Amino acid sequence: MSRRQLLKVEGLSLRFGGLQVLDDLSLTVREGRIVGLIGPNGAGKTSCFNCLTGIYRPQGGRVFFDGKDVSHLPTHRRARRGIARTWQNLGVIDALTVTENVMLAQHQRAGYSALAGMLGLAGTWHRERELRRDAAEIIEYFGLEDVADERAGELPYGVRKTCDMAMALATDPKMLMLDEPASGLSPEEALALGTTLRELRDRLRLTILMIEHHVPLVADVCDYVYVLNFGRLLTEGEPEAIQRHPEVIAAYLGGAAEPGAGSDGGTVPVAAADGPPDWPLVPEGPHSDGRPDGTA
Ligand SMILES: Nc1ncnc2c1ncn2[C@@H]1O[C@H](COP(=O)(O)OP(=O)(O)OP(=O)(O)O)[C@@H](O)[C@H]1O
Ligand SMILES: [Mg+2]
Repeated sequence: MSRRQLLKVEGLSLRFGGLQVLDDLSLTVREGRIVGLIGPNGAGKTSCFNCLTGIYRPQGGRVFFDGKDVSHLPTHRRARRGIARTWQNLGVIDALTVTENVMLAQHQRAGYSALAGMLGLAGTWHRERELRRDAAEIIEYFGLEDVADERAGELPYGVRKTCDMAMALATDPKMLMLDEPASGLSPEEALALGTTLRELRDRLRLTILMIEHHVPLVADVCDYVYVLNFGRLLTEGEPEAIQRHPEVIAAYLGGAAEPGAGSDGGTVPVAAADGPPDWPLVPEGPHSDGRPDGTA
């Protein structure tokens, strides 16, 4: 039986001056699925997220969420409808503790401002206590209880990323959008992340749309994958098919045609005797925006 469409994007087009960042992009995310959005650096993946969350205003196209047209809603109203995201460059506030960060995120659904909560204004006290209890549960779920009272800025990068995800979950979303959740993580942390994502899908029935360069993670957790190249949809399908798609392989080699990207500088990688071909979708070194290198 086909699942309900939670997110439907129709003909999204985004331009900055002469640069066509997204070009007639359409995609669908069905409820309870983990969907990957992949593509070479600069393909338009983060811009797509920014359009879906209302940060960028595309020149064309429509976004439907949970059966409603949200194309003209501002970011906070889309968030209230159940869209949550993490950031490529982390959304945690370094000066706040892990608990404070999670509680700050919760105020999106608290019905009053974070400041009113902190000042203990009339009517907020009881709710604030509930939020603190929920925050403690989320923190425990993500294994952050030992660092709950530490300032986020003093924690290792992988832990701050986990905190970022806990914050997104604290808004009680229907759909979680993750922008490169595995970048900067150790292989062990990336493996644990895969387990967490599957658990969020299987136990909490969460729908996840995920940008990711880390191929083992994409292949491991995604039910379906969209591939972007130069703002256009190159192809879509199940991870196994995508992994072997010649145009996908070519697009990645084209984007990474530099030393180390491929031993022969651009031919399609051959399949190993006992497994799938080496997927060339590997981060190409430190990113232009300063975030750490990936681990693939
Ligand atoms: N606010 C903006 N103003 C001008 N150009 C922008 C803006 N945001 C994005 N772009 C351009 O849009 C293109 C796509 O960028 P985007 O960050 O969406 O790519 P990406 O697929 O997320 O890449 P990466 O894998 O490196 O994160 C790039 O050429 C980028 O410079
Ligand atoms: Mg990006």
